[in-house]
Amino acid sequence: MRHPRLACSLTIAFGGTGTRGNSPMANGKWTKQELLSKPIKHVDITKFDGRSIIDSYRNMAYSSRTLANAADIYSMMLKDKECGVILTLAGSLISAGLKKAIITMLENNMIDAIVSTGANIVDQDFFEGLGFKHYIAPGSPEAPPVDDMTLRNMMIDRIYDTYINEDDLRACDHATYEIFNAFEPGAYSSREFIEAMGAYLANNSKYAKNESIVKTCYQKRVPIFVPAFSDCSAGFGIVLQQTEAIEEGRGQVAFDSGKDFRELTDIKLACKDTGLLMLGGGVPKNFAQDIVVAAELLNERKGGKARGDIGMHKYAVQMTVADSRDGALSGSTLREACSWGKVDVVHEQMVFGELSALFPILASDAYHRKAWKARKGFKFADLFEKGDGMPTFSKGKLAKSK
Ligand SMILES: NC(=O)c1ccc[n+]([C@@H]2O[C@H](COP(=O)([O-])OP(=O)(O)OC[C@H]3O[C@@H](n4cnc5c(N)ncnc54)[C@H](O)[C@@H]3O)[C@@H](O)[C@H]2O)c1
Repeated sequence: MRHPRLACSLTIAFGGTGTRGNSPMANGKWTKQELLSKPIKHVDITKFDGRSIIDSYRNMAYSSRTLANAADIYSMMLKDKECGVILTLAGSLISAGLKKAIITMLENNMIDAIVSTGANIVDQDFFEGLGFKHYIAPGSPEAPPVDDMTLRNMMIDRIYDTYINEDDLRACDHATYEIFNAFEPGAYSSREFIEAMGAYLANNSKYAKNESIVKTCYQKRVPIFVPAFSDCSAGFGIVLQQTEAIEEGRGQVAFDSGKDFRELTDIKLACKDTGLLMLGGGVPKNFAQDIVVAAELLNERKGGKARGDIGMHKYAVQMTVADSRDGALSGSTLREACSWGKVDVVHEQMVFGELSALFPILASDAYHRKAWKARKGFKFADLFEKGDGMPTFSKGKLAKSK
């Protein structure tokens, strides 16, 4: 997806069959500026009331009824005062327009921890926090007005029907490098690095007004874990930091994935019950489920029982397009996860469907039902050590959290 730097002000011949109407590009030429002119707008779950849709869906069939059941389980998690809610994210969800929905949920104490792919958190959310945008691609992926080789030459990256300016992504890579370079040499969890990224946005007047999940989590003390942290823009930043440090004979910084797992397990041990709201599958799904087993191991080490002392995730909802027949993780059912001792089967629901369409309905339903009103939020980020070696800008005064 990432390309060598090339000249960007090319004007490109129209090479597809997309409908153009009376567009200014009707002469068959598209400039980079024209291709990147229509930003993705994030859905606002406060502006419509998902409850009426969910209430209708409850009496229907197939995906509608499972979505209604999932919404009910999510509201149960929020009502349960002893339950920490963990959101997992895979796929390209922030670039698709789901950022504002998640920020609204964070602001209203509807999420206590996040486990995500790096793409969502760094390449997409932190990227937008820096002021960059994702763009609606003209035409359709089936009938694109500009072919992918042309996009490559223009330094435009494509996620299905969305465009990104590769020059902006390079700036995002560089910002991650600057942040990593400001740490004392050593190994840190992704949670520590992402907290510093949140501080970088919140404590800099240039970025403070930009909406960002990373920034909001820093302010609300909601930790974010990215188990495969190198597999995103942060990977480019760490390659730059380590290469430069090696060349200059100074210490490097490194991602400590074991610490991620230990810290996330501490969250499981810190609250009586946990609930999972899983968007997509992938690494975040399994990483968040596995903390039950890690907590059991730690409990056994202290003389506790292998099974039974530590509760499985009490509530679980997963929304995904994957199915279970290939035996792969993303579509494996929550009942299957029960056999591994990870998820209880009393309050669980798989919802099969595409997230950009389904998730806003569930989120709006939960927002309007207001079970979150009685929650304070666990502020799990405050569980962890204050972080010797973290950059000074991340030790600044926190913006007041609600
Ligand atoms: N997704 C990207 O565009 C992207 C870009 C750069 C790097 N990466 C990196 O690649 C690795 C794998 O990322 P990934 O999780 O995006 O893999 P992925 O896209 O394969 O997602 C995992 C699974 O989640 C489900 N899923 C994804 N999007 C969905 C949607 N819109 N609706 C319903 N279900 C959906 C699917 O079942 C999918 O198999 C990560 O480390 C990530 O940081 C991803």
